[in-house]
Amino acid sequence: MAKKKKFSTHMEKEIHEIPDVVLRIIQNYAPVFCERILPDVNELAKLFYECDTVHIAACGTAYHAGLVIGKLMEEHCKIRTKVYIASEFNPLVKSNDIAIVVSQSGETADTVSAMKRMKEYNIPIVALCNVENSTIAKTADWVIPTRAGQEVSVASTKAFIAQVLCGVILVNNIFYSKYGRLLYTKSELLNIPLQATKLLSRKREIKQLAKLHRKTQRIFFLGSGMDAFLAYESALKVKEITYNHCEGYAALEFRHGTMALVDDKTLCVGINTSQEKNDKLNNLMNDVKSRGSKIWNIDLFESGNNLSFVVGAIPSFFFALYLSKEKGNNTDKPRNLTKAVTIE
Ligand code: M6R
Repeated sequence: MAKKKKFSTHMEKEIHEIPDVVLRIIQNYAPVFCERILPDVNELAKLFYECDTVHIAACGTAYHAGLVIGKLMEEHCKIRTKVYIASEFNPLVKSNDIAIVVSQSGETADTVSAMKRMKEYNIPIVALCNVENSTIAKTADWVIPTRAGQEVSVASTKAFIAQVLCGVILVNNIFYSKYGRLLYTKSELLNIPLQATKLLSRKREIKQLAKLHRKTQRIFFLGSGMDAFLAYESALKVKEITYNHCEGYAALEFRHGTMALVDDKTLCVGINTSQEKNDKLNNLMNDVKSRGSKIWNIDLFESGNNLSFVVGAIPSFFFALYLSKEKGNNTDKPRNLTKAVTIE
Protein backbone atom coordinates (compact mmCIF):
# COMPACT_ATOMS: atom_id res chain seq x y z
CA MET A 1 0.00 0.00 0.00
CA ALA A 2 2.91 2.33 -0.68
CA LYS A 3 1.81 5.95 -1.24
CA LYS A 4 2.45 7.86 -4.44
CA LYS A 5 2.62 11.18 -2.55
CA LYS A 6 2.37 14.12 -4.99
CA PHE A 7 3.03 11.93 -8.03
CA SER A 8 0.39 10.38 -10.22
CA THR A 9 2.26 7.10 -10.65
CA HIS A 10 4.65 5.03 -8.54
CA MET A 11 7.09 4.97 -11.45
CA GLU A 12 7.31 8.76 -11.47
CA LYS A 13 7.80 8.80 -7.71
CA GLU A 14 10.48 6.12 -7.90
CA ILE A 15 12.44 7.97 -10.60
CA HIS A 16 12.36 11.06 -8.38
CA GLU A 17 13.76 9.04 -5.50
CA ILE A 18 16.94 8.20 -7.44
CA PRO A 19 19.14 11.06 -6.09
CA ASP A 20 18.30 10.01 -2.50
CA VAL A 21 18.79 6.33 -3.28
CA VAL A 22 22.24 6.84 -4.78
CA LEU A 23 23.31 9.15 -1.97
CA ARG A 24 22.12 6.60 0.62
CA ILE A 25 24.05 3.80 -1.07
CA ILE A 26 27.24 5.84 -1.22
CA GLN A 27 26.89 6.91 2.42
CA ASN A 28 26.21 3.33 3.47
CA TYR A 29 28.87 1.63 1.45
CA ALA A 30 31.57 4.10 0.52
CA PRO A 31 33.22 4.14 3.95
CA VAL A 32 33.07 0.37 4.05
CA PHE A 33 34.09 -0.33 0.49
CA CYS A 34 36.41 2.54 -0.26
CA GLU A 35 38.27 3.67 2.80
CA ARG A 36 38.31 1.12 5.57
CA ILE A 37 38.31 -2.29 3.98
CA LEU A 38 36.57 -4.47 6.54
CA PRO A 39 37.99 -7.99 6.97
CA ASP A 40 34.93 -9.75 5.50
CA VAL A 41 34.75 -7.33 2.57
CA ASN A 42 38.42 -7.92 1.94
CA GLU A 43 37.78 -11.65 2.02
CA LEU A 44 35.03 -11.24 -0.58
CA ALA A 45 37.27 -9.11 -2.81
CA LYS A 46 40.00 -11.77 -2.56
CA LEU A 47 37.54 -14.43 -3.74
CA PHE A 48 37.00 -12.33 -6.84
CA TYR A 49 40.53 -11.52 -7.81
CA GLU A 50 41.72 -15.04 -7.16
CA CYS A 51 38.96 -16.72 -9.18
CA ASP A 52 39.16 -17.90 -12.75
CA THR A 53 35.77 -16.63 -13.99
CA VAL A 54 32.87 -14.67 -12.53
CA HIS A 55 29.51 -15.97 -13.75
CA ILE A 56 26.72 -13.38 -13.53
CA ALA A 57 23.07 -14.40 -13.98
CA ALA A 58 19.90 -12.31 -13.88
CA CYS A 59 16.72 -11.48 -15.82
CA GLY A 60 15.37 -8.41 -17.61
CA THR A 61 16.50 -5.14 -16.12
CA ALA A 62 18.67 -6.92 -13.55
CA TYR A 63 20.40 -8.72 -16.44
CA HIS A 64 21.26 -5.33 -17.95
CA ALA A 65 22.75 -4.26 -14.61
CA GLY A 66 24.70 -7.55 -14.68
CA LEU A 67 26.09 -6.65 -18.12
CA VAL A 68 27.33 -3.32 -16.76
CA ILE A 69 28.91 -4.96 -13.71
CA GLY A 70 30.55 -7.68 -15.83
CA LYS A 71 32.10 -5.13 -18.15
CA LEU A 72 33.45 -3.06 -15.25
CA MET A 73 34.99 -6.14 -13.61
CA GLU A 74 36.64 -7.32 -16.78
CA GLU A 75 37.87 -3.93 -17.95
CA HIS A 76 39.19 -2.60 -14.66
CA CYS A 77 39.89 -5.57 -12.41
CA LYS A 78 41.00 -7.81 -15.31
CA ILE A 79 38.80 -10.67 -14.12
CA ARG A 80 37.20 -12.86 -16.78
CA THR A 81 33.43 -12.39 -16.57
CA LYS A 82 30.50 -14.08 -18.28
CA VAL A 83 26.99 -12.69 -18.06
CA TYR A 84 23.96 -14.92 -18.65
CA ILE A 85 20.23 -14.51 -18.98
CA ALA A 86 19.32 -16.57 -15.91
CA SER A 87 16.94 -18.88 -17.78
CA GLU A 88 19.83 -19.80 -20.14
CA PHE A 89 22.37 -20.40 -17.42
CA ASN A 90 24.37 -23.44 -18.47
CA PRO A 91 28.05 -22.57 -18.00
CA LEU A 92 31.36 -24.38 -18.03
CA VAL A 93 32.52 -23.94 -14.45
CA LYS A 94 35.90 -24.39 -12.74
CA SER A 95 36.19 -25.09 -9.02
CA ASN A 96 37.60 -21.63 -8.21
CA ASP A 97 34.90 -19.71 -10.08
CA ILE A 98 32.44 -17.41 -8.36
CA ALA A 99 28.86 -16.42 -9.17
CA ILE A 100 26.83 -13.24 -8.90
CA VAL A 101 23.06 -13.00 -9.14
CA VAL A 102 21.22 -9.69 -9.44
CA SER A 103 17.57 -9.31 -8.50
CA GLN A 104 15.25 -6.61 -7.23
CA SER A 105 12.54 -8.86 -5.83
CA GLY A 106 14.74 -11.78 -4.85
CA GLU A 107 11.95 -14.12 -5.97
CA THR A 108 12.46 -14.40 -9.74
CA ALA A 109 12.03 -18.11 -10.54
CA ASP A 110 14.56 -18.20 -13.40
CA THR A 111 17.22 -16.62 -11.19
CA VAL A 112 16.42 -18.95 -8.29
CA SER A 113 16.82 -21.91 -10.61
CA ALA A 114 20.17 -20.57 -11.93
CA MET A 115 21.23 -20.41 -8.28
CA LYS A 116 20.35 -24.10 -7.87
CA ARG A 117 22.82 -24.88 -10.64
CA MET A 118 25.45 -22.67 -9.02
CA LYS A 119 24.95 -24.64 -5.78
CA GLU A 120 25.44 -27.89 -7.70
CA TYR A 121 28.74 -26.52 -9.00
CA ASN A 122 29.57 -25.66 -5.40
CA ILE A 123 30.84 -22.14 -6.17
CA PRO A 124 30.31 -19.14 -3.85
CA ILE A 125 27.26 -17.03 -4.73
CA VAL A 126 27.06 -13.28 -4.18
CA ALA A 127 23.59 -11.74 -4.47
CA LEU A 128 22.92 -8.10 -5.25
CA CYS A 129 19.37 -8.00 -4.03
CA ASN A 130 16.86 -5.36 -2.97
CA VAL A 131 14.66 -7.52 -0.72
CA GLU A 132 16.78 -8.75 2.13
CA ASN A 133 14.55 -11.57 3.40
CA SER A 134 13.83 -12.96 -0.07
CA THR A 135 14.60 -16.45 -1.38
CA ILE A 136 17.58 -15.21 -3.41
CA ALA A 137 19.10 -13.28 -0.48
CA LYS A 138 18.62 -16.28 1.81
CA THR A 139 20.11 -18.74 -0.68
CA ALA A 140 23.25 -16.70 -1.44
CA ASP A 141 26.51 -17.01 0.50
CA TRP A 142 27.07 -13.25 0.43
CA VAL A 143 24.44 -10.54 0.09
CA ILE A 144 24.99 -6.96 -0.98
CA PRO A 145 21.65 -5.27 -0.24
CA THR A 146 21.00 -2.77 -3.03
CA ARG A 147 19.03 -0.47 -0.69
CA ALA A 148 16.77 1.13 -3.30
CA GLY A 149 13.79 0.97 -0.92
CA GLN A 150 10.47 -0.58 -1.88
CA GLU A 151 9.82 -0.52 -5.63
CA VAL A 152 6.14 -0.80 -6.52
CA SER A 153 6.04 0.02 -10.22
CA VAL A 154 6.42 -3.08 -12.40
CA ALA A 155 8.89 -1.13 -14.53
CA SER A 156 12.09 -1.11 -12.53
CA THR A 157 13.92 2.24 -12.37
CA LYS A 158 15.52 3.16 -9.06
CA ALA A 159 16.34 -0.51 -8.40
CA PHE A 160 18.29 -0.70 -11.68
CA ILE A 161 20.35 2.38 -10.81
CA ALA A 162 20.96 0.95 -7.31
CA GLN A 163 22.14 -2.37 -8.78
CA VAL A 164 24.56 -0.60 -11.11
CA LEU A 165 25.90 1.61 -8.32
CA CYS A 166 26.36 -1.31 -5.91
CA GLY A 167 28.23 -3.07 -8.72
CA VAL A 168 30.45 0.00 -9.16
CA ILE A 169 31.21 0.00 -5.43
CA LEU A 170 31.93 -3.72 -5.42
CA VAL A 171 34.30 -3.31 -8.37
CA ASN A 172 35.93 -0.33 -6.60
CA ASN A 173 36.52 -2.55 -3.61
CA ILE A 174 37.97 -5.42 -5.62
CA PHE A 175 40.19 -2.97 -7.49
CA TYR A 176 41.41 -1.49 -4.19
CA SER A 177 42.17 -4.91 -2.73
CA LYS A 178 44.02 -5.95 -5.87
CA TYR A 179 45.96 -2.80 -6.73
CA GLY A 180 46.04 -0.85 -3.43
CA ARG A 181 44.37 2.26 -4.90
CA LEU A 182 40.85 3.33 -5.70
CA LEU A 183 39.32 3.16 -9.15
CA TYR A 184 36.69 5.78 -8.20
CA THR A 185 37.29 8.26 -5.39
CA LYS A 186 34.61 9.10 -2.86
CA SER A 187 34.19 12.57 -4.37
CA GLU A 188 33.66 11.04 -7.83
CA LEU A 189 31.00 8.80 -6.30
CA LEU A 190 29.42 11.76 -4.52
CA ASN A 191 28.96 13.52 -7.85
CA ILE A 192 26.44 10.82 -8.87
CA PRO A 193 23.54 12.17 -6.74
CA LEU A 194 24.22 15.67 -8.08
CA GLN A 195 24.12 14.45 -11.66
CA ALA A 196 20.92 12.50 -10.95
CA THR A 197 19.29 15.68 -9.61
CA LYS A 198 20.34 17.60 -12.73
CA LEU A 199 18.81 14.92 -14.94
CA LEU A 200 15.50 15.10 -13.07
CA SER A 201 15.29 18.75 -14.05
CA ARG A 202 15.17 17.72 -17.73
CA LYS A 203 11.81 16.03 -17.35
CA ARG A 204 9.69 18.82 -18.88
CA GLU A 205 11.72 18.85 -22.06
CA ILE A 206 11.45 15.03 -22.24
CA LYS A 207 7.69 15.20 -21.64
CA GLN A 208 7.37 17.43 -24.71
CA LEU A 209 9.45 15.02 -26.70
CA ALA A 210 7.22 12.11 -25.67
CA LYS A 211 4.18 14.11 -26.74
CA LEU A 212 5.76 14.70 -30.12
CA HIS A 213 6.37 10.98 -30.55
CA ARG A 214 2.93 9.74 -29.57
CA LYS A 215 2.41 8.25 -33.00
CA THR A 216 5.96 7.13 -33.73
CA GLN A 217 5.90 3.49 -34.81
CA ARG A 218 9.40 2.26 -34.09
CA ILE A 219 11.99 3.42 -31.60
CA PHE A 220 15.65 2.39 -31.46
CA PHE A 221 18.11 3.17 -28.68
CA LEU A 222 21.73 3.08 -29.82
CA GLY A 223 24.93 3.23 -27.80
CA SER A 224 28.47 1.84 -27.71
CA GLY A 225 30.33 0.05 -24.93
CA MET A 226 28.58 0.59 -21.61
CA ASP A 227 25.96 2.66 -23.43
CA ALA A 228 24.86 -0.38 -25.42
CA PHE A 229 23.61 -1.84 -22.13
CA LEU A 230 21.81 1.41 -21.33
CA ALA A 231 20.27 1.18 -24.81
CA TYR A 232 18.96 -2.36 -24.05
CA GLU A 233 17.58 -1.19 -20.72
CA SER A 234 15.96 1.94 -22.23
CA ALA A 235 14.29 -0.15 -24.92
CA LEU A 236 12.97 -2.68 -22.42
CA LYS A 237 11.40 0.13 -20.39
CA VAL A 238 9.75 1.68 -23.44
CA LYS A 239 8.34 -1.68 -24.62
CA GLU A 240 7.15 -2.63 -21.17
CA ILE A 241 4.95 0.37 -20.52
CA THR A 242 4.23 1.98 -23.91
CA TYR A 243 3.72 -1.24 -25.98
CA ASN A 244 5.69 0.45 -28.78
CA HIS A 245 8.01 -1.55 -30.97
CA CYS A 246 11.40 -0.62 -29.56
CA GLU A 247 14.87 -2.18 -29.59
CA GLY A 248 18.21 -1.36 -28.05
CA TYR A 249 21.37 -1.92 -30.10
CA ALA A 250 25.11 -1.75 -29.83
CA ALA A 251 25.28 1.24 -32.17
CA LEU A 252 27.43 -0.09 -34.99
CA GLU A 253 25.64 -3.46 -35.07
CA PHE A 254 22.55 -1.55 -36.16
CA ARG A 255 24.02 -1.16 -39.63
CA HIS A 256 24.09 -4.95 -40.06
CA GLY A 257 20.42 -5.48 -40.88
CA THR A 258 18.06 -3.65 -38.53
CA MET A 259 18.77 -0.29 -40.16
CA ALA A 260 16.46 -1.47 -42.97
CA LEU A 261 13.53 -0.69 -40.61
CA VAL A 262 14.39 3.01 -40.45
CA ASP A 263 11.88 5.31 -42.14
CA ASP A 264 10.03 8.53 -41.38
CA LYS A 265 7.93 6.83 -38.67
CA THR A 266 11.06 5.96 -36.69
CA LEU A 267 12.77 7.63 -33.76
CA CYS A 268 16.46 6.79 -33.13
CA VAL A 269 17.94 7.74 -29.78
CA GLY A 270 21.73 7.92 -29.45
CA ILE A 271 23.13 7.51 -25.93
CA ASN A 272 26.61 8.75 -25.03
CA THR A 273 27.66 8.83 -21.40
CA SER A 274 31.37 8.52 -22.12
CA GLN A 275 33.97 11.23 -21.74
CA GLU A 276 34.67 11.39 -25.43
CA LYS A 277 32.79 12.41 -28.51
CA ASN A 278 31.56 9.26 -30.20
CA ASP A 279 32.16 10.02 -33.89
CA LYS A 280 30.93 6.63 -35.06
CA LEU A 281 27.65 7.05 -33.17
CA ASN A 282 27.32 10.60 -34.54
CA ASN A 283 27.82 9.33 -38.10
CA LEU A 284 25.19 6.68 -37.54
CA MET A 285 22.74 9.27 -36.17
CA ASN A 286 23.33 11.43 -39.25
CA ASP A 287 22.77 8.44 -41.52
CA VAL A 288 19.45 7.47 -39.91
CA LYS A 289 18.37 11.11 -40.06
CA SER A 290 19.08 11.26 -43.77
CA ARG A 291 16.85 8.19 -44.14
CA GLY A 292 13.93 10.03 -42.59
CA SER A 293 14.23 9.04 -38.92
CA LYS A 294 13.69 11.57 -36.15
CA ILE A 295 16.64 11.65 -33.79
CA TRP A 296 17.25 12.39 -30.12
CA ASN A 297 20.79 12.56 -28.71
CA ILE A 298 21.14 11.82 -25.03
CA ASP A 299 24.59 13.24 -24.44
CA LEU A 300 25.61 13.11 -20.80
CA PHE A 301 29.15 14.31 -21.25
CA GLU A 302 30.50 15.99 -18.13
CA SER A 303 34.17 16.83 -18.06
CA GLY A 304 36.06 14.64 -15.59
CA ASN A 305 33.03 12.46 -14.85
CA ASN A 306 33.52 8.85 -15.85
CA LEU A 307 30.54 7.57 -13.86
CA SER A 308 27.76 9.16 -15.96
CA PHE A 309 26.62 5.72 -17.05
CA VAL A 310 25.30 5.04 -13.52
CA VAL A 311 22.43 7.50 -13.96
CA GLY A 312 22.48 7.47 -17.78
CA ALA A 313 19.13 5.70 -18.05
CA ILE A 314 17.18 8.47 -16.29
CA PRO A 315 16.26 10.39 -19.51
CA SER A 316 14.95 7.18 -21.11
CA PHE A 317 13.00 6.32 -17.96
CA PHE A 318 11.24 9.68 -18.22
CA PHE A 319 10.66 9.19 -21.93
CA ALA A 320 9.05 5.78 -21.36
CA LEU A 321 6.94 7.17 -18.52
CA TYR A 322 5.58 10.14 -20.45
CA LEU A 323 5.01 8.19 -23.65
CA SER A 324 3.07 5.62 -21.66
CA LYS A 325 0.96 8.40 -20.11
CA GLU A 326 0.38 10.00 -23.54
CA LYS A 327 -1.05 6.68 -24.67
CA GLY A 328 -3.31 6.44 -21.63
CA ASN A 329 -1.68 3.20 -20.41
CA ASN A 330 -1.61 1.99 -16.85
CA THR A 331 2.07 2.86 -16.36
CA ASP A 332 2.53 1.13 -13.01
CA LYS A 333 0.79 -2.09 -14.04
CA PRO A 334 1.51 -2.81 -17.69
CA ARG A 335 -0.58 -5.47 -19.40
CA ASN A 336 0.54 -9.13 -19.20
CA LEU A 337 3.27 -8.45 -16.61
CA THR A 338 3.81 -8.85 -12.87
CA LYS A 339 6.38 -7.27 -10.58
CA ALA A 340 8.10 -10.58 -9.87
CA VAL A 341 8.05 -13.40 -12.39
CA THR A 342 7.70 -16.41 -10.11
CA ILE A 343 6.96 -19.00 -12.78
CA GLU A 344 9.45 -20.54 -15.17
O1 M6R B 1 13.01 -8.94 -9.40
P1 M6R B 1 14.04 -9.14 -10.47
O2 M6R B 1 15.03 -8.04 -10.53
O3 M6R B 1 14.73 -10.48 -10.37
O4 M6R B 1 13.22 -9.13 -11.81
C1 M6R B 1 13.83 -9.39 -13.04
C2 M6R B 1 12.95 -8.91 -14.18
O5 M6R B 1 11.75 -9.60 -14.21
C3 M6R B 1 12.66 -7.41 -14.06
O6 M6R B 1 13.85 -6.67 -13.94
C4 M6R B 1 11.87 -6.89 -15.27
O7 M6R B 1 12.66 -7.01 -16.41
C5 M6R B 1 11.44 -5.45 -14.99
N1 M6R B 1 10.02 -5.41 -14.77
C6 M6R B 1 11.76 -4.50 -16.10
O8 M6R B 1 11.39 -3.19 -15.77
